[in-house]
Amino acid sequence: MPAPHVSRRHMFGYAGAATLGGTAGLVGGRLLAADASQDVVQQDHPAHGAHQAGIATRTQAVGELIAFDLLPGTDRAALGRLMRVWSSDISALTAGRPAPGDATPDLAQASVSMTILVGLGPRVFDLDGLQANRPAGFQEIPPMDHDALDERWSGGDLLAWVSADDATSVAHAARRLTVDAAPFASPRWTQRGSWRSAGPDGQPVTGRNLFGQVDGTGNPTDDALSAAVFSTDGWLTGGTQLVVRRIEMDLGTWDDLTRDRQERSMGRTLATGAPLTGGEEHTPMDLSATADGAPVIPLDAHARLAHPSQNSGRTMLRRGLNYTHEEWIDGRQVATAGLIFSAFQASIADQFIPVQRTLDQSDALNEWTTAIGSAVFAVPPGFGPDGWIAEGLLGD
Ligand code: HEM
Repeated sequence: MPAPHVSRRHMFGYAGAATLGGTAGLVGGRLLAADASQDVVQQDHPAHGAHQAGIATRTQAVGELIAFDLLPGTDRAALGRLMRVWSSDISALTAGRPAPGDATPDLAQASVSMTILVGLGPRVFDLDGLQANRPAGFQEIPPMDHDALDERWSGGDLLAWVSADDATSVAHAARRLTVDAAPFASPRWTQRGSWRSAGPDGQPVTGRNLFGQVDGTGNPTDDALSAAVFSTDGWLTGGTQLVVRRIEMDLGTWDDLTRDRQERSMGRTLATGAPLTGGEEHTPMDLSATADGAPVIPLDAHARLAHPSQNSGRTMLRRGLNYTHEEWIDGRQVATAGLIFSAFQASIADQFIPVQRTLDQSDALNEWTTAIGSAVFAVPPGFGPDGWIAEGLLGD
């Protein structure tokens, strides 16, 4: 879903990272936009800062989320050791340097827009010495009527979310993190997806899900983003809470609908993502508009039901990835597709869950979407060059 709308401030941020060239064309393997200030791919995102990179960062082309289970012997101190190892891996890999002890150091590459985000699952807060630190509002998603959850895509004690504009770099970093985690944690599930958040001219666009919808328009930006997403609660201050839902989309039945029916289920046009009440992508929806006595944006339209005005102002930052998946069942290959729905918010209990309950009851999209995986992670704040991830929770 979610490419955050890119503000002018973000655009200037990109400009700083994209001044290596200035002419159009492919130079030394690097695609240079005619105006380098608008080149939003192939950047270096700093690993260090108040927040982890990979939250408000433009959604990169490729993402891999790996959830891990802690091994039985991994206590608070051991988890701290893993976080130190991962922090040093992340500082190196995102800067295009090999991680310490990297067996394939030549795969490390700069300017692939890499970010690596780390999260802690609910069971971390069952470990001795951490029970008092479970963040307020951090909880699993209660069962929903439309769920068909599969253990294969659910749960997890740790998350590493690797993103970049290049799949080889993602595979390299994901393997490094997995190898370095082996003494402490074993992989539970992996989900891979993609997103296209740059237009043909290299300029930022919101991106589309596999229904063809422009997805991420309503995301909060700037101050509203900070207020909705970043925690002010104890050790998690500057961090956030993440929900990952694997949502299967029935593309076959969706394809059979008329375009009009598809657009009414969302309340927005497919061509531009503009509200059915008119304007452009970022024109506010007119939820009170009627035609022939009926609401122009139907009462069960997803964008109406999810809108903050219908949810006591609740909002979240969505940052999804499109997935396709094939598996062999009874000697036949079966293909499925959907959205790795991800949403960051300061409190899962206060933000995601009430909105999800409303959607579960009434959303027109429920006819073609089914949640098949669910996981939640507390995402520690960012770290500095001399610090490490979750130091405020696990440090002495
Ligand atoms: C496969 C499932 C889903 C699809 C295809 C989908 C698609 C979309 C699209 C196309 C929009 C309109 C453009 C935009 O503002 O981004 C939207 C808006 C939104 N969706 Fe979803 N969505 C899905 C699931 C969910 C879930 C599970 C939630 C949260 C529980 C959610 C929350 C929202 C929110 C908060 C908005 C923004 C409303 C606004 O501010 O105007 N969506 N979604």
